[in-house]
Amino acid sequence: MKAAVLIKNGDAATAFQIREVATPLFRNDEVLIKVAAFGLNFADVMARMGLYKEAPPKPAILGYDVAGTIVAVGEDVKHLRTGDRVTAMTRFGGYAEYAVTKASAATEIPAEMDYATATALTTQYCTAYFAAAEMINLHAGDKVLVQSGAGGVGTALIQYAKHRQCEIFSTAGSETKLNYLRSLGVHHPINYTTHDFESEIMTLTEGKGVDAIFDAVGGASIKKGFRSLAAGGRIVCYGAAAISDKNIFGKISTALAFGFYHPLQFMTASKALIGVNMLRIADNKPEVIQRCLEAVVQLNKEGVFTPTLGKVFDVADIGAAHDFLEKRKSIGKVVVQWWS
Ligand SMILES: NC(=O)c1ccc[n+]([C@@H]2O[C@H](COP(=O)([O-])OP(=O)(O)OC[C@H]3O[C@@H](n4cnc5c(N)ncnc54)[C@H](OP(=O)(O)O)[C@@H]3O)[C@@H](O)[C@H]2O)c1
Repeated sequence: MKAAVLIKNGDAATAFQIREVATPLFRNDEVLIKVAAFGLNFADVMARMGLYKEAPPKPAILGYDVAGTIVAVGEDVKHLRTGDRVTAMTRFGGYAEYAVTKASAATEIPAEMDYATATALTTQYCTAYFAAAEMINLHAGDKVLVQSGAGGVGTALIQYAKHRQCEIFSTAGSETKLNYLRSLGVHHPINYTTHDFESEIMTLTEGKGVDAIFDAVGGASIKKGFRSLAAGGRIVCYGAAAISDKNIFGKISTALAFGFYHPLQFMTASKALIGVNMLRIADNKPEVIQRCLEAVVQLNKEGVFTPTLGKVFDVADIGAAHDFLEKRKSIGKVVVQWWS
C-alpha cells in the first residue's frame, strides 16, 4: 500500500514522501480500514516539527483519524463488519491507504455523511466532548471561553457549549475567523491580535471572570486565563500551540510563561486547572474513548455536532495541507484524501 511517510522534521514542503510500505496487520480486537480520507490535527504539525515526544521514530506514518471502509475485522470484533463505512481514531498510521485500529475506536458514519467530514468526528470532537462534558460539566448560563475557537477542537467546543446554553466567549486571529465564530453562535468573539483577551473578559463580565476556559495555546495564555476565571472556575489545558513557532529560547520562555502554581492558590481562589491528553486516556481507559465516540456520534445525529470542513487536499499535496494548518489559515477540519 501507499503511505505519506514523514521522512524528516522541519519544512512541510520536504517533510513527506509517498512511499510503498507493508499493509498493517490486525489483531483480534482490531479492524483494517481502507482509508478514503484522513484528517490532520495540530499534533501532526508538532510531530512534523519534532516537537511531539509521543510520535514514532522516522520514517513515520502520522495520523490520528481516518474515514473509509472496513475491509477486515479481528475475530473478537462484534459491532463492526466488512463493508461498513466508518470513521476511526488511529494511534498514528492514519496517513496511509490502509490503517488498523482498535474496533472500540471506530464507529459507523451516517449514510449521508461524506468521508472527509467524518474524519473530524473522532480526535477533535472526542477531545472536545471529553474536556467539556466529562472533565467539566457545563451548565446553562455558564460563561465559557474557548481559545482558538475557529479550529477543529474549538468548533466542537463551541457547538457543545451552545448546546448546553452557555454564554460563549471565543478568540481567533483574524476577522474572517471572527465572522465564523459569530456564525457558530459565539456571543463575544475576541480578536486576540487587536485585543487583550483577559481585559476583554474582565470588561464583558464586569470584573467577575468566566466559569470555564478551554486553552490549547499554552504559555502566558494559561496564566492570563487563570486570572480570568471566576470563583468555581476551571481551565482545561490541552495543548501548547504557542511553542510551535518559536526558536529554542522562545520555547523555554513559553514553557516558563505557563506559570508556577501552588495547591493553596487553587484552594483559596476555588479555581481548578485540568490537563487533558487523549493518548493517556486511550492508554489508561480505552472504554472512555469508546464512550466519547458514541456520545459524539449521537450528538451528531441530534444536530448538535456538525463538523466544518475547512479544506480538502489530495495526498500529493500533504505538505501544503500541513502548511495550511501550521500557518493558521484553516477554519474547522483540514482533510487529506487518497482518491478525489
Ligand atoms: N490534549 C489532547 O489530547 C489534544 C487532542 C486534540 C488536539 N489537541 C490540541 O488542540 C489544539 C487544537 O487542535 P486542532 O487540531 O483542532 O487545531 P486547530 O485549532 O484547527 O488549528 C490550530 C489553531 O490554533 C491557533 N493557534 C494559536 N496559537 C498558534 C500558534 N502559535 N501556531 C499555530 N496556530 C496557533 C490558530 O488559530 P488562530 O488563528 O485563531 O490563532 C490555528 O488555526 C492543538 O493545540 C492540539 O495540539 C490536544
